Amino acid sequence: MLPALVFLALVAFAAALLGSPHAGRAATLHLFLAVGAMPLIFGAMGYFIPVLTRTRAARAGVLSVPILGLAGGALAVASFSLPGMAWGRYAGAFLAAMAAGTLLVWSGRRRAGMLGRPHPGLAWYDAALACLLCALLAILASAIWPQQWTALRRLHLHLNTLGFVGLTALSTLSVLLPTVTGRPDPNVGTRLRHDLPWAVAGALLVALGAAWFGPLAWLGGALWSIPLLRLGASWLRLYRAEIFALHGAAPLLAAALAGLALSLLAGAAAAALPALAPTSAFVAGFLLPLVSGAASQLLPVWLRPGVQGPWHASLRNNLGRYGGARAALFCMSGILAGAGLEWGVLLGGATLAWFVLQAVGALLHAAIIPKDNTP
Ligand code: HEM
Repeated sequence: MLPALVFLALVAFAAALLGSPHAGRAATLHLFLAVGAMPLIFGAMGYFIPVLTRTRAARAGVLSVPILGLAGGALAVASFSLPGMAWGRYAGAFLAAMAAGTLLVWSGRRRAGMLGRPHPGLAWYDAALACLLCALLAILASAIWPQQWTALRRLHLHLNTLGFVGLTALSTLSVLLPTVTGRPDPNVGTRLRHDLPWAVAGALLVALGAAWFGPLAWLGGALWSIPLLRLGASWLRLYRAEIFALHGAAPLLAAALAGLALSLLAGAAAAALPALAPTSAFVAGFLLPLVSGAASQLLPVWLRPGVQGPWHASLRNNLGRYGGARAALFCMSGILAGAGLEWGVLLGGATLAWFVLQAVGALLHAAIIPKDNTP
């Protein structure tokens, strides 16, 4: 299921990049975020929540949540691009809210049924899902409160980007980079526990402030940057050599963190400089390196779960080759796209295409070497 969701996300990204000159802005963004990223995040949560609660792997029923989310995302895109589909935004928001709610309830059950305390990352996932739920309720609320449309749209935008995707990314990156480098970060649990209130308060204040009272958004942005800066500082202290390397997933994950910081900055500055495009920086500078970096690390274990051997190491090496060069290109594309230059996103798309071609080669190579053999 998870490799299929990675593939689906890459196809959605490609469709968004190729279709962007013809489709409108909202359709393109939702192809990236609601069709590509949201089902993949649901799938990844279905995989990680059992790990965080030390319970058995998810049953097939939970694995259908990404499909429900995908249907919601597809309806949203259709509503932006097809005539007579205006109802699709409400139906899509309803389906995606059902998917987020199901996952939230399931996570609560896993928490209740486990022995001891869950990993602190679980509370981040719960908060991220709650933000998504509120973001989707904002779209549904606009049906009965149309005079508040502008405010509700802003609420939706920020709760989704900084809340849903941002919180998921910060918590996942915090544990993923130490796994990539093979060297644990001894403070990760404490930091996740301390930083969650700042991140949640930050996302809520930015969303409420952007919707109804500007000054709150500044305070929210400052609070949100606390966990971001603390994670960045800890990475530079612990993993500098892996981050500034030519190969591997680590440079891509670090580029994603930098891209997230950049889009937050662009969002703050956009009030004074309207030519800036924070959502484009979010997609090109953060989402693309995040998905390609996480896929480089996780595809081998998702394709063949269980004991990790030379087959996994070889595939991971091949997926991560020149990851550092791609990270630099993604950074550049995030900066250009954030500055409002359309071809910045195209540079990100070309870099993603490089990864996809390399991944196809790596997977074909992995398919022809036997599982237990050292290549
Ligand atoms: C799947 C259900 C979803 C529905 C029905 C939905 C619906 C909408 C609608 C109606 C708008 C206003 C578009 C306009 O200005 O004309 C909007 C904007 C936006 N949504 Fe969603 N959305 C969904 C999911 C998501 C997700 C999962 C994300 C991000 C993770 C997201 C991020 C955004 C952003 C960034 C904007 C602002 C677009 C812009 O700048 O023009 N949405 N959404």
